Amino acid sequence: MSVNETNPRRTFAIISHPDAGKTTLTEKLLLYGGAIHLAGSVKARKAQKHAVSDWMEIEKQRGISVTSSVLQFDYQGIRVNILDTPGHQDFSEDTYRTLIAADSAVMIIDVAKGVEEQTKKLFRVCKDRGIPIFTFVNKLDRFGRNPFELMEEIEKVLGIRAYPMNWPVGVDGNYKGVYNRQLNQVELFAKDDSHGQRAVPSTTGNVEDAAFRQLLGEDAHQALCDDIALLDMAGDEFDYDKVARGDLTPMFFGSAMTNFGVRPFLEEFLRLAPPPAPRRSSEEIVSPESDVFSAFVFKIQANMNPAHRDRIAFIRICSGRFERGMNVYHVQSGKQVKLSQPQQFLAQERTLVEEALPGDIIGLFDPGIFAIGDTLCQPGHEIRFEDFPVFPPEQFARVQAKDTMKRKQFVKGMTQLTQEGAVQVFRQPSVVESFVVGVVGSLQFEVLQYRLKQEYGVDILMNSLPYGLARWVAGPGLNPKALKGMDNGMVLEDTRGRPLVLITTEWQLNWVKERNPGVEFYAAPPDN
Ligand code: G4P
Repeated sequence: MSVNETNPRRTFAIISHPDAGKTTLTEKLLLYGGAIHLAGSVKARKAQKHAVSDWMEIEKQRGISVTSSVLQFDYQGIRVNILDTPGHQDFSEDTYRTLIAADSAVMIIDVAKGVEEQTKKLFRVCKDRGIPIFTFVNKLDRFGRNPFELMEEIEKVLGIRAYPMNWPVGVDGNYKGVYNRQLNQVELFAKDDSHGQRAVPSTTGNVEDAAFRQLLGEDAHQALCDDIALLDMAGDEFDYDKVARGDLTPMFFGSAMTNFGVRPFLEEFLRLAPPPAPRRSSEEIVSPESDVFSAFVFKIQANMNPAHRDRIAFIRICSGRFERGMNVYHVQSGKQVKLSQPQQFLAQERTLVEEALPGDIIGLFDPGIFAIGDTLCQPGHEIRFEDFPVFPPEQFARVQAKDTMKRKQFVKGMTQLTQEGAVQVFRQPSVVESFVVGVVGSLQFEVLQYRLKQEYGVDILMNSLPYGLARWVAGPGLNPKALKGMDNGMVLEDTRGRPLVLITTEWQLNWVKERNPGVEFYAAPPDN
């Protein structure tokens, strides 16, 4: 039996628009998973964290979560790894990268708001990677949209068909439970007085039971039967292959706040969620069943503990067995590294990890050598995982050190922070004193400014630039400086010397394209 069958892992991320209920659902999964006993502690820690982490001052001021960690618990023999992603739009670049470490995603949709902007972007990244996406429609304790309407919206806006695994029972604004389509069973949830702090009791029975009919009332019961008949007749067939390819999303209904529908979701999700997937490297497809250790860095977090000025590199294990103190080969630096203090995180608590398996996430103290996408592997079995995708920046600024005497620290800080993936950095050929930085969300600018000052002692001047798109350019005999129609644009190079242009709008991009036949424009570096 392979390591994965004896130690099953399910590693996933929760994606949503801010306020849809990601924190609340995460917390409830921990509650049902037995990792916490009273809901409220993740949120409380979220608040407590503000007191201990001072670069997170920004987080405090803006009341948002920017740190991300992994939450782990065991449920019915499965080790569950929830990749906690920062929810705010401004941090979506980090969020995107976290998705690369996940084997599946849970997409939360607010029943009243439907598919929102941030959800669309995150969904796109999951879809492009072909990972299974599960949908949890949240806040069913409130008035919201009709479930059929939501199914239609998911299909229209996201281009994926939805298969309801369960269906809300009752009337809008007063749902009482969920109907499980596989088992033809109804589960009704009791109202409890703990405000969702504890697991909520429920009663389960066949949909035809007279007792349920009575409990629900004739009208609600008939409405449920009509809905089920319609779903069975007009809906999709459940097709696991389609789910696995990311072409069909199993859909669940519930209310994270009142706990309604959380346990059925967790159990069904764990039954369907994929185990750790094979990963592509330049040499081979790395199977999670392989005994040979391999992992990649997907996130670098600085200053998790300001007292120690530490950087933590989060790695996802892809194959083999990790043991504390083992020596691994860091492919990008060509050095062997001893992994002596691996950490795991439950919210802000750290514990030392003795052993970890494919699908697990651990944090390593980073002496400043790791970068996003780096490969760690067993010495003598060298492979290199594919480069991380570059997520196209949408906002740009020119930055330079206020004090030219601090240039050295400035360049060092910019280099390290770029390596960490805090921002994307570009150079304008022939300009030496400043860089152009690109971000997905404007808060990244604030973090850059703050960290350069705190960690490198450099004040910067930052001027925003009026562009909205970056496009890498390529083509036979291309001379980027000679591109036509670029009067309102800017020609730059990325850190690997690849040319790109900054342009204001799609409209202008088309105008430039027309004037430069034979030149290709790419949203990400073409050889990426
Ligand atoms: P996020 O991480 O996705 O940003 O969302 P979060 O869980 O923080 O939830 C956002 C708000 O929505 C919170 O209210 C939360 O209590 C509420 N919420 C989450 N799930 C449900 C649900 O199932 N039903 C209802 N009615 N509300 C839900 P808040 O007032 O902003 O915060 P709080 O004072 O409750 O902590």
